[in-house]
Amino acid sequence: MKAWQVNALGEPAEVMRLVDVPDPTPGPGQLVVRVLASPANFPDALMCRGLYQVKPDLPFTPGVELCGEVTSLGEGVTGFAVGDRVIGAAVMPHGGFAESAVMEVATTFAAPAALDDAQAASLYIGYQTGWFGLHRRAGIREGETLLVHAAAGGVGSAAIQLGKAAGATVIGVVGGDAKAAVARELGADIVVDRHSEDFVAVVKEATSGRGADVIYDPVGGETYQRSTKCIAFEGRILVIGFAGGDIQSAALNHALIKNYSIVGLHWGLYNLFDPAAVAECHADLTRLADAGVVRPLVSEKLELAAVADGVQRLADGSTVGRVVYVA
Ligand SMILES: NC(=O)c1ccc[n+]([C@@H]2O[C@H](COP(=O)([O-])OP(=O)(O)OC[C@H]3O[C@@H](n4cnc5c(N)ncnc54)[C@H](OP(=O)(O)O)[C@@H]3O)[C@@H](O)[C@H]2O)c1
Repeated sequence: MKAWQVNALGEPAEVMRLVDVPDPTPGPGQLVVRVLASPANFPDALMCRGLYQVKPDLPFTPGVELCGEVTSLGEGVTGFAVGDRVIGAAVMPHGGFAESAVMEVATTFAAPAALDDAQAASLYIGYQTGWFGLHRRAGIREGETLLVHAAAGGVGSAAIQLGKAAGATVIGVVGGDAKAAVARELGADIVVDRHSEDFVAVVKEATSGRGADVIYDPVGGETYQRSTKCIAFEGRILVIGFAGGDIQSAALNHALIKNYSIVGLHWGLYNLFDPAAVAECHADLTRLADAGVVRPLVSEKLELAAVADGVQRLADGSTVGRVVYVA
């Protein structure tokens, strides 16, 4: 079969190669799927660079999440059958940027019927991260103000939709006019273009000086530092990622003086420590998708040959929503 492979670490467009490899076979508890769709995620780019917390042995096929059709089942697999349409995580080194990929029972779920393959594939990591971040870690409440950084991106677009579904007023921060239009379309009540406006001033004005109750931060670095200037009394800053490239340090005296919480989220760990909650989250996201309340933003559908270019553009910060390989 055809698959993208990473044989050396570096920039995605330089180190990803489209090659012929043997079809994968399922180990115990695993499923092999024919890939129907697989979105590019920032962690795919970080894995190519060797900068992600998961460091697969070389060579590996990136593509951390996917929608696929089950073609074979490993020993001991129950609850799935050949022909099922599923979504979830790929098991490295057999990621989704290939004709077939490997999944495992614990991180595989029925694909929502309301979504096409590209949308269904994109309902997993970004939306689960948003759901666990906003509800489980930040305990967002109806009527609160939510500030979302990189709001037109993959996890940011999910956070806007889930924040609106939770009854929050959502302020989205984006880089540039085109992304501002996307964030508005996604449902953000107020949109800030970080290239021309200061989000701290906008948040203070919109909240009569109080600040945002929850800040969803996939960017980090200076974006985090500025966020501490507009976090409300008893606010929660969610540390989601470091897409800006710098990992910030936190001034804990500032957290004490202003009474706010700095809340880390490593969503993947819930698969280990509380898989029942991941299943519950999937059920809730499926319900929201069925009701048309959430709809993953698929901005581009890529053929297999175009995947490395898509991953590189995501890494460079120029994509919106999800760019998705569709078979
Ligand atoms: N904590 C978790 O469990 C978890 C789970 C999934 C993903 N994540 C993290 O969430 C982050 C976002 O992932 P994603 O796949 O949804 O990506 P994405 O948000 O679609 O892309 C990154 C966005 O970050 C912004 N950005 C700001 N400075 C940047 C820079 N120097 N280079 C590149 N982008 C920059 C850009 O948006 P603007 O130009 O609009 O600012 C860009 O579009 C990543 O750090 C990822 O590792 C964390």
